[in-house]
Amino acid sequence: MNNVTSLTEIKSAKISSDFQKQDINFDIAKLRNACNEVLKIKGFDTSLGIPHFAAISLNQIPGDPDSIKGSKVRGVYWTKPDSTGVEVSRDVKIDESKYTEFVKDFEHTYFKEVYDELSKKYKLGRVRLLLKEPRSTLSWHRDPEPRLHIPIYTNPGAIMVIDKRAQHMPADGSVWVTNNLKYHNAFNGGEENRVHLVACVLDYKFN
Ligand SMILES: [Fe+2]
Repeated sequence: MNNVTSLTEIKSAKISSDFQKQDINFDIAKLRNACNEVLKIKGFDTSLGIPHFAAISLNQIPGDPDSIKGSKVRGVYWTKPDSTGVEVSRDVKIDESKYTEFVKDFEHTYFKEVYDELSKKYKLGRVRLLLKEPRSTLSWHRDPEPRLHIPIYTNPGAIMVIDKRAQHMPADGSVWVTNNLKYHNAFNGGEENRVHLVACVLDYKFN
């Protein structure tokens, strides 16, 4: 293998990574302030039926507050729950493209600026703050579309696994797009909550 070949291989490996750090950054102090403000207005909805998981929706279908309640906060996913390895679908399909209205109660926070900035660059579906409690995990599952992550509160033991690869995403204002079309999981092995802003991205293609 010559140098040119190996460089090409390294480049293509980077392009095909299931964790893609984006060329955009936000202010982590402002993100944390915004998160704290939102939490003062509305606590995490812990009634979603998924243990140790909770969410707050930042956008909705215009004029439709029901679009950010119950199963619509979760959305469809596929999982292999038992020893048969047979895939099953859970929850309801969401028309992500209809989620175009930022929730009025949070318009005064930095998240509105973040939402507007992201909307210039990506076609977004639902945008949520997702809470992962300490020492907890999601199911092994796949989603209908890629997801954009902005870590707000995290710790070294909060890790996402896609297929066979694990990645910690630091809370430093950086933005990641993850290939949630492949089987994945996220766990929080720390002793503090993990909070990410997570957006469904409708126009992002992985190789
Ligand atoms: Fe997922």
